[in-house]
Amino acid sequence: MVHPKNILLVTISLSKALATPIVKRDTPSAVASVSYALPSLLTPVRQAPSPSYGVTPNNTDFEIESFEEFGKQEDPDNPLTIYRDGGGSCSIGNRTIWFFCDTSGYQNDTFKAITDNSLSVARTFDEPSLLTDATSNSLYSYGWNPAVPYTAEEYPWRNRPSKRYVMWTYTNCLQVSENRAVQYFHLYKYNSLSSTSDWGNTMATLDFDPDTEMLTVTRDKQVTFPNTTYEYGSFANMVVDGVAFLYALDTKYSSKKDVHVARVATDSLSQYDTYQYYDASTKTWSYNQPQPTARRQSAAVMSNYMPYSTGSMFYSEYHNAYLLVYFSNWADSTFRVSYAPSPVGPWTTDDKVLYTVPQGPGGYDYGGVAHPQYYQDGPSGKALLVHYSYRDTSYTYTKAAKLVFK
Ligand SMILES: *[C@@H]1O[C@H](CO)[C@@H](O)[C@H](O)[C@H]1NC(C)=O
Ligand SMILES: *[C@@H]1O[C@H](CO)[C@@H](O)[C@H](O)[C@H]1NC(C)=O
Ligand SMILES: *[C@@H]1O[C@H](CO)[C@@H](O)[C@H](O)[C@H]1NC(C)=O
Ligand SMILES: *[C@@H]1O[C@H](CO)[C@@H](O)[C@H](O)[C@H]1NC(C)=O
Repeated sequence: MVHPKNILLVTISLSKALATPIVKRDTPSAVASVSYALPSLLTPVRQAPSPSYGVTPNNTDFEIESFEEFGKQEDPDNPLTIYRDGGGSCSIGNRTIWFFCDTSGYQNDTFKAITDNSLSVARTFDEPSLLTDATSNSLYSYGWNPAVPYTAEEYPWRNRPSKRYVMWTYTNCLQVSENRAVQYFHLYKYNSLSSTSDWGNTMATLDFDPDTEMLTVTRDKQVTFPNTTYEYGSFANMVVDGVAFLYALDTKYSSKKDVHVARVATDSLSQYDTYQYYDASTKTWSYNQPQPTARRQSAAVMSNYMPYSTGSMFYSEYHNAYLLVYFSNWADSTFRVSYAPSPVGPWTTDDKVLYTVPQGPGGYDYGGVAHPQYYQDGPSGKALLVHYSYRDTSYTYTKAAKLVFK
């Protein structure tokens, strides 16, 4: 599909973007690091009972009881009007953080600033469209730098309309301990408006300091999984019993139909030689990282007839199953679900439709993701917060909605 965000960037001027320099932290292992304050908005999440690795799915007809739209996600106290797309959320330090992709700010229809990713904090689980913008709000000292720092090589290219590096994410971040999470970003380099190279992905480690309420975002490598490998963690990810399962789409050879998975202990995410890679044809894990030089369909943990676009994966108590809630790449603005009795499947491939969200005047919606940490009064997964990127006449913004299963 043509990515709509490429269109937006041609039309804006960039006069006031990014006046403040990046704050660099002296960490020997970091290629880039930055710290900024997180607003004190607490949305603690009930600790769900840890699922077994193998479960017996229940309530799997996935009939919808209700779907309630909350509209544009925004910070009513931001002096600028914000447009943005993509993104995902997770819990850290009893807060719910949201990353977004290309984020632009306007004052009375006049362009003021843009950055390729930003971070906001949920105000309350009861009103999911209300956020406080932590990095795209000039009221905060960090305002209008990207939420994830550039390396020295990337920094000079920041936010120019034709030549720039961008870090974009379309799934949830992964909480690995009370005050630590990671998020995976696709790293693209725009050599010009018509020439883009996909470098792979980069893992950002997020450390929250409860005493100072500062979040430190660190990249230990410019590229974590380069474009010669699968981009583990970028399609979906989840933690089961202290192990992170990191899912990657084969975009090059399977046209987004095959999903491959790696696993690593959550306390060893930066120790890349401890990662293991799954081969579904033999049902075995090995330390040999596959070098995808052709389609490897039999090794894929999921292989669909319909291409995947975006989504998120998690354990649902209500379904006693692992769920993937996703948009396909068919640009039909439709949330779908697959489920499995274990992180390595077997995953269903009937592309069960959950709900089609209305399209805006700009065309199909994209970037659909579910956020399972919302609505934990009953069994988790019975009600889901979902969000997606909605294309209005000239601008794209994200909308949130509540989906309840029967
Ligand atoms: C399946 O779900 C139903 C409805 O939520 C519940 O009453 C039942 O106990 C569940 N069964 C199992 C085996 O978990
Ligand atoms: C989060 O909440 C738990 C439980 O109330 C508490 O023990 C912990 O100190 C809190 N952490 C932060 C960073 O607020
Ligand atoms: C923006 O527009 C409003 C309403 O028209 C006006 O009151 C305000 O002064 C304008 N702000 C700027 C900075 O131009
Ligand atoms: C793959 O990544 C490298 C940087 O590591 C970049 O130079 C190259 O252009 C990328 N290839 C493609 C096909 O995008």
